[in-house]
Amino acid sequence: MSDSMQGLSRTHYCGTLSAADIGQTVTVMGWVQKQRDLGSLIFVDVRDRTGIVQLNFNETTHKELFDKAFTLRAEYVVAAKGIVAARGEAAVNRKMATGEIEIMVEDLRLLNTAATPPFEIVENSDVREELRLKYRYLDLRRPELTRSLMLRHRTAQAVRRYLDEQGFLEIETPMLIRSTPEGARDYLVPSRVHQGTFYALPQSPQLYKQLLMVGGYDRYMQITRCFRDEDLRADRQPEFTQIDMEMSFVNEEDVIALNEGLLSYVFKNVLDVELKTPFQRMTWQESMDRFGSDHPDLRFGLELCDLSDLFAQTSFKVFAGALEAGGSVRCIRVPGGASAFTRKDLDKLTEWVKTYKAKGLAWLKLQNGEVSSSYAKFLTEEENNAVAERMGLEDGDLLLVVADGKNSIVYASLGALRCEIAKRLGLIDKTEFRFVWITEFPLLEYDEDAGRYVAAHHPFTSPMAQDVPLMETDPGKVRARAYDIVLNGFEIGGGSIRIHNGDLQQKMFALLGFSQEEAQRRFGFLLEAFKYGAPPHGGLAYGFDRLVMLMAGLDAIRDVIAFPKVQNASELMTDCPSEVDGAQLRELALTLDLPVQNS
Ligand code: AMO
Ligand code: AMP
Repeated sequence: MSDSMQGLSRTHYCGTLSAADIGQTVTVMGWVQKQRDLGSLIFVDVRDRTGIVQLNFNETTHKELFDKAFTLRAEYVVAAKGIVAARGEAAVNRKMATGEIEIMVEDLRLLNTAATPPFEIVENSDVREELRLKYRYLDLRRPELTRSLMLRHRTAQAVRRYLDEQGFLEIETPMLIRSTPEGARDYLVPSRVHQGTFYALPQSPQLYKQLLMVGGYDRYMQITRCFRDEDLRADRQPEFTQIDMEMSFVNEEDVIALNEGLLSYVFKNVLDVELKTPFQRMTWQESMDRFGSDHPDLRFGLELCDLSDLFAQTSFKVFAGALEAGGSVRCIRVPGGASAFTRKDLDKLTEWVKTYKAKGLAWLKLQNGEVSSSYAKFLTEEENNAVAERMGLEDGDLLLVVADGKNSIVYASLGALRCEIAKRLGLIDKTEFRFVWITEFPLLEYDEDAGRYVAAHHPFTSPMAQDVPLMETDPGKVRARAYDIVLNGFEIGGGSIRIHNGDLQQKMFALLGFSQEEAQRRFGFLLEAFKYGAPPHGGLAYGFDRLVMLMAGLDAIRDVIAFPKVQNASELMTDCPSEVDGAQLRELALTLDLPVQNS
C-alpha cells in the first residue's frame, strides 16, 4: 500500500481519550512507550505529544495481532485501531490521565521501527543533560519538554491576541544589520558582495522599532530572535527571543499600564492565574538599598540594612577601611539563622561570597542568650549595642555583615546571599508570582576599564527631564526614564521612554565619549531620521524565554527552548559552530589567523 499510514487515519490523540469515549472505535498513532507481556495478554503503552494510552492485545480473541504486538519495541512507531473500553476496577491507574480506559485493539500497523534509544524516554529522567541535548529530538519526546513547549506556544499566541486587540502591528525587522554598540558583543556575518565588510545579527530590534515610530506605525510588536555574544548562564542564551514592542505618544504610565494588562491577560489565559494590578513599584535606589539587586525577589524578606553611620569612628580596620574608601557596611538579619548555620556553613558562605568579590563575611549569632561572632570582639560595646538595636536582634538570629570600599560589591554579595539563604531555609513560596517595576535607573554607569561612562540601558534612553542639567555637571547622578519588569527575582523585561530629539541624542553620544564625527559615522541614520519629525515614543522588550521559564516553574531557559545551546555556546546535536570550506572563506576574502594550539 502506498499510503505511509497503511490505510489507517488518526481519529484521536492518545492523551485525550477518557471514560467519555468508552464504546467508540478510535485510531491513535504514536511511539511505543513500553510493552508488557502478561502471558495471554500484552499491554502496549503508546505515546504522542498529548500523553499515553494503553493498548490491549488478547491472544485468545486476536492471535495474529497478539503475535505482532509481541514484536514491538520501545520507540517503534505504530498505528492502532480499536474500541475504547473501561479497565477492570483493579487495573485502573489513577496516575495516568487515561488510566481508566484502554483500547481493545482490532487493527495494528507498524509504521516504523526504531534503534534502541541511548536513553529511556521517561518523565524526570536523570540522564545527563549533554546526552539529552545530543539527542534532543528524543529528549523532546519527554512530557516535561512537551509541556514546556506547548506552554510557550500558548503564551506566544496569547501575547499576539492581546496586542492585536490593543492595535499593535506585528512587523518584522532585519536580521542582517549594521553593527551598532548596544552593550553585548555582536555576532558578525561577513559579506560576500562587499568583501571586507560585515553585517551584525541584531542584539535587539531597538533602532528599527524607533525608526518604525518615525515611520508613523504608532504601535509595533514582534516576537523575535536576538543575538548576543556574551557569557552564558541559566537565564542567558546567545540567541534568545524577545517580545518586543514600541509605542508613540506615550509616557511611562502608558507603557506600564499596557504591560500590566498584557501580563494579566497572558497569566489568566495560559495559567488561569489572576494577577493583582497595579504591580508594586520601586525606584532603583530603593531596590539596591533594600535588596542589593535591581531585580529583587520579593517573595521573602531578609532585607539589607545599612550600618555605615554606626561605624563613623570605629577602630575596626575592616569596617573603617571600607568607609574611608567611600563604601559601606551592610547587614542582613536571618531569623532562626543561629541554629540553621553551623560554623562550617558560615566558613563555606564566606568563601561563597568571594565569588561576588566580597573580601569577607562577618557574622554574629545570638543563641540562648549567648553571642558568638567573628567580629564582635573588634568592636566597642557601644558599637555592638548599636548594631543589635538597629537590627532588632532577637534570640536565634544570625547577622551577616559585608563591608567593602565599593558599594556595588556590598550590594552584589549581600543581594546574592539573601537569595541563597532563602533557598536553603525554604522561605520561598514556589506558587507565588511576585511582580515589581523598577524605575528611575541611573542613565549612565562608569566603566572603570574603559575610563568613561556607558549607557546603563542603551544610548537611546531618555534622561528624566529634571536631571538633564546634571548631564553637564554630574552625569553619574542623572536618572533615566527607564523601567524594568521583574518577576520572582528575574528581570523579565526592560524598556524606556526614548530620546526623540536630535540635539539631546547628540548630547548623550557625547557623554558616552563619541566624537561628533564618530556619532555621525555610527548613528548618522538615526540622527538624520530625528530631523524629520520623530514622535515622542517608548517601549519595552520581554525576555520571552525567561517569562515562559517562570510560568512553567523551571530554573533554566534551556528547558523552554527546543534547541538550546550549552555553556560554551555550541549546539551539541548538530555540533555547531563548525569549520567551513576553504572555498567559502575565499569567496568572503577571509583568511584565518588562529592562535597556535599548545598540545
Ligand atoms: P534588554 O537588553 O534589557 O532590552 O533585553 C530585554 C530582555 O531580554 C532578556 N534578555 C535575555 N534573555 C535570554 N538570554 C539573553 N542573553 C538575554 N539578554 C536579555 C531579559 C531582558 O529584560 N531593546 C531593549 C528593550 C527596550 O528598550 O525596549 C532591550 O533589548 O529578560
Ligand atoms: P580580619 O581582621 O581580616 O581577620 O577580619 C576580622 C573579621 O571580619 C573576620 O570575621 C572576617 O571574616 C571579617 N571580615 C573581613 N573582611 C570583611 C569584609 N570585607 N566584610 C565583612 N566582614 C569582613
